[in-house]
Amino acid sequence: MSKNYYITTPIYYPSAKPHMGHAYSSIIADFFSRFKKIDGYNVYFLTGTDEHGLKIQRAAEKKGVDTLKFCDEISQTFRDLSKTLNLTNTDFIRTTEERHKLSVKNLWKELKKNDEIYLSKYSGWYSVSDEAFYSEDEIEDIDGKKRAVSSKSSVEWLDEESYFFRLSKWEKPLLKYYKDNPNFISPASRKNEVISFVKNGLKDLSISRKSFSWGIQVPDDKDHVIYVWLDALTNYISALNYPNTDDQLFKQFWPATTHLIGKDILRFHAVYWPAFLLAANISLPKAVYGHGWILSGEEKMSKSKGNILDPIEIIDQYGLDPLRYYLIKEVSFGNDGNISQDRLEDCINSDLANNYGNLCQRVITFAIKNCDSKIPDKIEFKKDDLKILDNFESNLDLIRGKIDEHDLNFYINFIVNSLFEANKYFNDQEPWKKKDDLLRLNTIVYTTLEIVRKISFLLYPIIPSSSLKALKIFDILEKDIVLDSITNNEFLAKNKKINSIDILFKKIEKKDD
Ligand code: MSP
Repeated sequence: MSKNYYITTPIYYPSAKPHMGHAYSSIIADFFSRFKKIDGYNVYFLTGTDEHGLKIQRAAEKKGVDTLKFCDEISQTFRDLSKTLNLTNTDFIRTTEERHKLSVKNLWKELKKNDEIYLSKYSGWYSVSDEAFYSEDEIEDIDGKKRAVSSKSSVEWLDEESYFFRLSKWEKPLLKYYKDNPNFISPASRKNEVISFVKNGLKDLSISRKSFSWGIQVPDDKDHVIYVWLDALTNYISALNYPNTDDQLFKQFWPATTHLIGKDILRFHAVYWPAFLLAANISLPKAVYGHGWILSGEEKMSKSKGNILDPIEIIDQYGLDPLRYYLIKEVSFGNDGNISQDRLEDCINSDLANNYGNLCQRVITFAIKNCDSKIPDKIEFKKDDLKILDNFESNLDLIRGKIDEHDLNFYINFIVNSLFEANKYFNDQEPWKKKDDLLRLNTIVYTTLEIVRKISFLLYPIIPSSSLKALKIFDILEKDIVLDSITNNEFLAKNKKINSIDILFKKIEKKDD
């Protein structure tokens, strides 16, 4: 089995600074990256910015700034956000970089060589905000303005010479690919949308623009720039040094394991991208996952709606790990979710401070007092101890399988239940009443410490800094976290000193308390 794992986020438009929706995609991708790392995979995790096209050109013009300078500045805020979010990304790609331009031009030439591109004229609707072409039946009249039904963004009429990609030709091969690879598109509800879109018939796709210049020039035709989506999608292979398919990176990580994206850009990833790849004889990614939106009230959070929530403000107020935990637990993965400060505070107080933080503090305090500040040496597991300890081993393969199905909800529920069971175990076993039976007392302490260790390993992909803080109890470092070891019930070195740690999460005093 291949132990290589390639995960990507969408590359973000640097038309304005990042918001919570962008942070969400990145945090989820980081979760998968970290999980796979501790499970022994070589991970390549790519993110970056999508800098060409009319949307960006207009945004720069509006500010009266040189377009590249404009991109440099905002792209940097996305790069900074990757640090703030504690992402483990391997690379950060910008579509204005030479390596990327070279790659896109090569892909174009390959498509041209394979007779997949022809010159004609595009007459139809275009949304600059979505950088997407829409057919007449995808347009509606709202307040006297023509808008796209799906995104509500306004559209303008285009009438210009354009190169076309023979998308229609790939209708049947795409449907066959979806059938042969049932896990290619998820969640399932979105897969059905894509399939019916393709079954309704694919028209050839306009892939160049003539009326503006901010983009990658079409090889051998300086009047056209390449359609920004053909340009942007190629980032997934340009980062791996395509067209050099003999390159070590390309060989190791292509095809990508998962393109993680928002549901609004599924058509580009599940229809256009695989069609381009098929037409260029490049293998197809294994999975595309379209997650839901972070809503603000009932609406999608977006710059044009003016309802954005700044991730940095939330992080400044509550810390990064609580935000990561909240987004992973409270936004049911695959569906839309609201950010509510009230629920975020509940998560901090009950899950993080009470269930996890308190468990750590209680067992350390008890061990410092009653076990000479050491990990107990003489122990003898009983049925109750093994029941809770073995639960990790018996679920590990299931957890791995669920992660491969992108079932984050299963993962977080497993952790929440484990924390509940761990607290219950410590309470029910009442080690404070076992001072006359040191073997039993030591066994309960050892068992609880092992559970803290196992849960901290599982929490690492979600709340990495806090998990590492907790693991300081045992002097366990990041490099020592190996998922497989949650099957080991005696991982902790006996007789080793236990370190006390600072409070992991401070409780929030709620206004209505
Ligand atoms: N540049 C394109 C992607 C090209 S990928 C080859 C793009 N950029 S974007 O900045 O508009 O959006 C990037 C991602 O953020 C998309 O996956 C989009 O779904 C996601 N989100 C934008 N707003 C969002 C929310 N309010 N909630 C969750 N994700 C949302 O599209």
